[in-house]
Amino acid sequence: MVILGAGPAGLLLGNLLHGSGIDCVVLERADPDHVRTRARAGFLAANTVRILDRHGLADGLQRAGRAHSTCEFRTEDGRFRLDYGRLGRGERHTVYPQQELVTDLLNRFLDAGGRIRFETEALAVHDADSPHPTVTAREPDGRPTRWRARYVAGCDGRHGAARRSLPPGTLRHHHDHGATWLGLLVQAPPSLDAVGYAVHRRGFAGHMARTAEVTRYYLQCDRGTPADAWPEERIWHELDLRMRAAEHGPMHRGPVLHRTVVDLDSDVVEPLRHGALLLAGDAASLLSPSAAKGANLAVLAAELLAEALVDDLAHGDPRALDQYSRRCLAHIWRAQEFSHWMVRLLHAVPGPYGRSPFDDSLRRTRLESLRTSRTHQDWFAENYVGV
Ligand code: APR
Repeated sequence: MVILGAGPAGLLLGNLLHGSGIDCVVLERADPDHVRTRARAGFLAANTVRILDRHGLADGLQRAGRAHSTCEFRTEDGRFRLDYGRLGRGERHTVYPQQELVTDLLNRFLDAGGRIRFETEALAVHDADSPHPTVTAREPDGRPTRWRARYVAGCDGRHGAARRSLPPGTLRHHHDHGATWLGLLVQAPPSLDAVGYAVHRRGFAGHMARTAEVTRYYLQCDRGTPADAWPEERIWHELDLRMRAAEHGPMHRGPVLHRTVVDLDSDVVEPLRHGALLLAGDAASLLSPSAAKGANLAVLAAELLAEALVDDLAHGDPRALDQYSRRCLAHIWRAQEFSHWMVRLLHAVPGPYGRSPFDDSLRRTRLESLRTSRTHQDWFAENYVGV
């Protein structure tokens, strides 16, 4: 088994296969420090915690993770809170920075004797339509190598070798949500004890706690904005305005540790299996960060794929592997639907959904329904935490 990529999908898959006695090697183009420190997501769904717990991989998040179950919406019509842990299925998120989770999975894999080749870039997957696919890669010293396997798991993200090796004619659904976010990691305590979503005529603003000292903020910006185009003063000015700090209390300021610009788009590859090549995580589908689903889908797909591969490789039963793509896509499309709904809910201007007064009124009506309708709130909670 060759696994491309040491993110949440690749590392969980590696741990589960290695734990079931399946020989596998992970090829990762980055070095160990980069893999352990890259700050990305951090909102783990209840199902993700269940999966990690089921496989004895939840020690870190049980120890340091923080339960989270409140969203606060701030709009021109005021603000309201949803304690989604008391709605829907009564499930909550666990706030645990992704780099901590990835570090836990990596350490466990290495401690168990798992094989991982760092700074080894997969270049292409060959003969995926045969029982003997190979992966060509570039070693840290530049030497080309070829890895043979019965199956190859593409967990190397949207721009990885697995996607590049898909046969022509593979279906790739792409949707541009028409909005762009400036993503910020700030060295400051959270400004509110909730995920904060601000809908404002100047654009969306978002607030997500990461730890007691670090907070993630998002600010809708013009497409093509360079990440360093906004001086810190402008960032706080916009956050104060859009989060309506004058009404609802000050934003806790601090130095910006990291910034990135994200165009909100989504894509899905169909099917997720091409012979001996199987996709999981961002290599399978990318979601806008509006609903914090990416890492949770990566974990769900990795467990589904691991179980199917163990059935096939250890027990000679290919049925689950034949069903993997259909089963995983069902979860992916559900997450895509909710993520799409959230983008339309949160973006007033500019963006294809925000321009017309008709759309503005629809958005205000949806927010009002979310504020007042218990049925709508239950639906929201079930889809917000579920994957
Ligand atoms: N060869 C080897 N490794 C590669 C290659 C390649 N050609 N291309 C990418 N990689 C590695 C990256 O360095 C990265 O470590 O693949 C890994 C992919 O990891 P992630 O991007 O974290 O992808 P995944 O495991 O699918 O998890 C995705 O996590 O951060 C969230 O929001 C994010 O939804 C996303 C989820």
